[in-house]
Amino acid sequence: MEPVLRTEIPGVPAPRRGKVRDIYDLADRLLIVATDRVSAFDVILPDGITDKGKILNRISLFWFRQMEDIVENHIISSNVEEFPSPFTNYRDMLEGRSILARKASVLPVECIVRGYLSGSGWKSYQAEGMVCGITLPAGLKESSKLPEPIFTPSTKAEEGHDINISFEETKNILGEKNAEKVKELALRVYDKASSIAEKKGIIIADTKMEFGVIDNKIILVDELLTPDSSRFWSKANYREGVAQDSFDKQIIRDYLISTGWDMKSPAPHLPPEIIAKASARYKEIFRILTA
Ligand SMILES: Nc1ncnc2c1ncn2[C@@H]1O[C@H](COP(=O)(O)OP(=O)(O)O)[C@@H](O)[C@H]1O
Ligand SMILES: [Mg+2]
Repeated sequence: MEPVLRTEIPGVPAPRRGKVRDIYDLADRLLIVATDRVSAFDVILPDGITDKGKILNRISLFWFRQMEDIVENHIISSNVEEFPSPFTNYRDMLEGRSILARKASVLPVECIVRGYLSGSGWKSYQAEGMVCGITLPAGLKESSKLPEPIFTPSTKAEEGHDINISFEETKNILGEKNAEKVKELALRVYDKASSIAEKKGIIIADTKMEFGVIDNKIILVDELLTPDSSRFWSKANYREGVAQDSFDKQIIRDYLISTGWDMKSPAPHLPPEIIAKASARYKEIFRILTA
């Protein structure tokens, strides 16, 4: 089966296309379609992974439901039959990969929570002993578990890579009240997710979530705790002091690095075996988490 790289619905204005999602604007609501596009190093790759959008959409739906006692989310329906016309007529294209969502005004800060030291957190710790202005104990290694999970926000850059910011800067951007609220909610979501995943043998090293405001109320939007937004590690294989194999597009990133690509558009094509391996990883984490 071919991957769904972009959607087009006759009779409605073209969607806004994010790196992964096609977003149809329906005034106070959005029809959000998770395509099979893959981005790496913030560049959209020429190839997709068949059904990746469906898998990530189902993982998000699973987590949104788990978090309902902590925070409301943007989902209205994931059932194509409940979508407005003409979307309801495009079941084959949309089923499993689409949601009807409440349109929120998205808070311009990526809410990242880290329980382990990896990626940009590890880099920043090595350089200055802290992450987003939070000083961490000396002697931590790559992939070390942190004494407690930390809130390490970043700004949503219009182009290029996101920039880590301190909590002070977060307050300047969001206002003190909203900054405190999203920090509290993000930490609680991470906490609950970690303990659910832990029981299934999965470590959530870190995760990124987005919040939006509707009628003065803060809700979760976008995607939640997917392999695109989180680092999932196998508890059985976990080893402090080295980089971990994660259930995300690491296979793809490693391949791209091996080609010597300059990390600017256009990216090289992926060989079929790399696509197959990445696809298998996505399916595996879906099965483990939702079993
Ligand atoms: N409920 C919502 N209301 C408004 N915007 C939303 C909502 N949910 C998600 N979004 C936005 O839709 C986009 C999702 O598409 P995606 O492909 O993930 O984009 P990006 O390339 O910015 O990551 C993001 O910009 C996200 O902020
Ligand atoms: Mg996104």
